[in-house]
Parts: sequence; C-alpha cells; structure tokens
Amino acid sequence: MKVTLNLPNGPLTLEVPDAGAGKGTIKGGHPLYYVAKQPRATENYLTQINSLLEDLPKGLDVFELCGGIGLVPAAVWDTIMPSSWTSVDIDPDCRKNYIAHGPHFVLGDMYEVRNFPKADLVICDFPNNTLPKMWREPKRAELFRKIATMKPRWWEVTDVGYYWIHLANHWPIYQEKFGVQVTRQNYANLFDCFMRDNYGYKVTKMTVGGGAQYFLMEAV
Ligand SMILES: C[S@@+](CC[C@H](N)C(=O)[O-])C[C@H]1O[C@@H](n2cnc3c(N)ncnc32)[C@H](O)[C@@H]1O
Repeated sequence: MKVTLNLPNGPLTLEVPDAGAGKGTIKGGHPLYYVAKQPRATENYLTQINSLLEDLPKGLDVFELCGGIGLVPAAVWDTIMPSSWTSVDIDPDCRKNYIAHGPHFVLGDMYEVRNFPKADLVICDFPNNTLPKMWREPKRAELFRKIATMKPRWWEVTDVGYYWIHLANHWPIYQEKFGVQVTRQNYANLFDCFMRDNYGYKVTKMTVGGGAQYFLMEAV
C-alpha cells in the first residue's frame, strides 16, 4: 500500500509492504507498522522533530541511532541540509525498506557498534527511552556515556516518559532519584538536571507530540 505523509517540507509518499500490516518483525513500534496504522501520529512525530531541529546550522555531520526506515532524514533533510548522515538500525526490514536517499545505513546493534562516526549532532530516536532507563539499564547508561565521550555539540533524544508519568507506580522511582513528585510539567526539568549532572549536556529545546517528547541538548 502507498501512504502519503504531509510533512513540513512537503508530502512524502512511501510504499509500505503488505507485511506492514503486522507480520514478521513489522509490528508494534516498527516504523512501517506505525506509518501504515497511524499515519497522522507519524506526521505529528516527524513534524515535532523537524521543529526541534529547525534552528540548527546547516551542514552538520549527523549520526542517528535507531534510524529505522529513514523517516527522520527524509523529513528534516531540507531543513538542516546536513553534510553527512549515518544511521544505524538493527532491523534488516528497515534496510530493505529504507526511504531516505542521503544517509549511509549501517545494519547493526547500536550497543555493539564499535566505532561511532564523528558527529556534530547525534539523534537517538529510541523506541522506548524513559529517564529511569537511563540509570536503571546499564547498557543504556553505557551507550549514553559513549555518546557523551564523542562530544557532539548537539544531541537529540526521543523519550516516552512524559506519556507514562501519570501512573502512580512510576512516581517512587523519580521520588527516590530526584526527591520530588514527577509531573508532566517538571519532567523536562528532571531530564535536564540528569543530563547536566551525568553527561554535561543541557536541554535547549523540547517538543512533544505523536507519542513522544523530543529533547534537543547542547554540550554545556
Ligand atoms: C521508533 S523507531 C525509529 C524509527 C526511525 N526514526 C525511522 O525513521 O524509521 C525505533 C527503531 O529502533 C530500532 N532499534 C531497536 N533496538 C535497536 C538496537 N539495539 N540497535 C539499533 N536499532 C535498534 C528498531 O529496529 C526501530 O527501527
């Protein structure tokens, strides 16, 4: 089936294989699945990332973890006009159905890739990041450490915590770490404090919509 997404830089039409309807690996959080099943939410998510990045200078070298089928570069290319873009994704179905033309696609597990390319902007469009995963999951913490060590000037992280913190069973985790009641109003502030204290990055812009919250950070 063909799906057209109306994005800020113009319409983007892509072919979603029949398996996009939920077979094999293509289900749940898979990009082909949500393009097929939730095109309006997908438009919203890509529009949020586009507006998050729109003020960055042109000509950056970009490294994207969880690059999927290339929706982000396809959506923001004309906005940020990168010099180079490398994407890593673990899923062969993403490589097979990759839609963006500029990026270099690396098939692999982001936790296992040995050498990250030099980048001005790192994009982490994770499927499931939340603030607690960043200290409770050693692999995630180590990945963040590795990115911070590269010292990109800008760093984007997609995060879904905002959509979960109304649930009371999440509150003690934040209370124990930060000593405050987490709310949708202070979540970004807690994220900012965590990144400053642990990795030397501060949140400079934030957008929300399409199922996640998007933080743009800059090295302090
Ligand atoms: C929210 S989607 C991102 C979609 C992407 N922005 C796009 O344009 O299609 C998350 C992606 O993370 C990938 N992923 C999950 N775990 C991964 C890992 N350990 N290493 C690399 N990619 C991974 C999935 O295959 C999926 O494509």
